[in-house]
Amino acid sequence: MSVIFTWACFLLWISSSTAENTPDVVVTCFNSEDCALPCTFQPGRNETVEWFRQDALLYRFDRNSSKESFNPDQLAERASISPQQISDGNATLILRRSDPKDRGTYRCHVQTSEGRHKAKVILKVEAPIRRLFLEQSRLSGYEEIKCSVQDVFPPPRVTWATEPPTFEDLRPVTRMHAKPNGLYTVDSRLRKLKSQPDLIYICKMTSSYGASTWTTSLRERDDWDKLLQQQQ
Ligand SMILES: *[C@@H]1O[C@H](CO)[C@@H](O)[C@H](O)[C@H]1NC(C)=O
Ligand SMILES: *[C@@H]1O[C@H](CO)[C@@H](O)[C@H](O)[C@H]1NC(C)=O
Ligand SMILES: *[C@@H]1O[C@H](CO)[C@@H](O)[C@H](O)[C@H]1NC(C)=O
Repeated sequence: MSVIFTWACFLLWISSSTAENTPDVVVTCFNSEDCALPCTFQPGRNETVEWFRQDALLYRFDRNSSKESFNPDQLAERASISPQQISDGNATLILRRSDPKDRGTYRCHVQTSEGRHKAKVILKVEAPIRRLFLEQSRLSGYEEIKCSVQDVFPPPRVTWATEPPTFEDLRPVTRMHAKPNGLYTVDSRLRKLKSQPDLIYICKMTSSYGASTWTTSLRERDDWDKLLQQQQ
């Protein structure tokens, strides 16, 4: 009993001691839009502000020398901070036209006559699914359905189903291709089941950040009419 009690006290002590740190901020931005990484502090004189990205120095401002410097290797031409606002206690970093490559951990370190301030910002950049494409082909000698999506991040999870459900193994071949900007193009091909001509094929893509699911389906009848449906 007393062991449990000691453990409970120990855990309580851990949680109260960590509570004094500035909590990490998670910022999620949309691809190609501007992004604000917040860092606000108690205003003071002689400020020095440093922003780090994955522990590499990205930006430094020193009030004494009025000198602002960006690390040219990093996102220099897309990042900005207003030295005017730093005097009011706001060293928020604005990152223009963000893309998935900007994801990561950023740290803001501020030193003023009033003391020190540290903040950690975890940046996520999302390019949500806007539309799924579904097409049929007979090119490769058998009938195939292709379900695809372009320029998304994070890469979606693809699943297939039929209506009514079938016990036969659906064997889709899914390929993901990452572009230099970090966005994914995904296509998934499924061979139609010859034994069951009247199935509706349903392709589902789920993107993990927003937890949004897109579904598109293809119904086939004797006259080869297609019925396409999309929903989010
Ligand atoms: C600013 O400069 C003064 C003298 O030049 C120095 O004493 C002080 O430490 C400097 N402050 C910071 C934050 O570098
Ligand atoms: C800090 O500055 C940014 C823009 O530079 C602004 O969007 C934000 O609202 C400011 N935050 C505060 C607390 O004033
Ligand atoms: C701020 O910097 C100035 C020089 O620029 C220095 O004279 C002054 O003592 C500094 N104040 C503090 C609180 O460090």
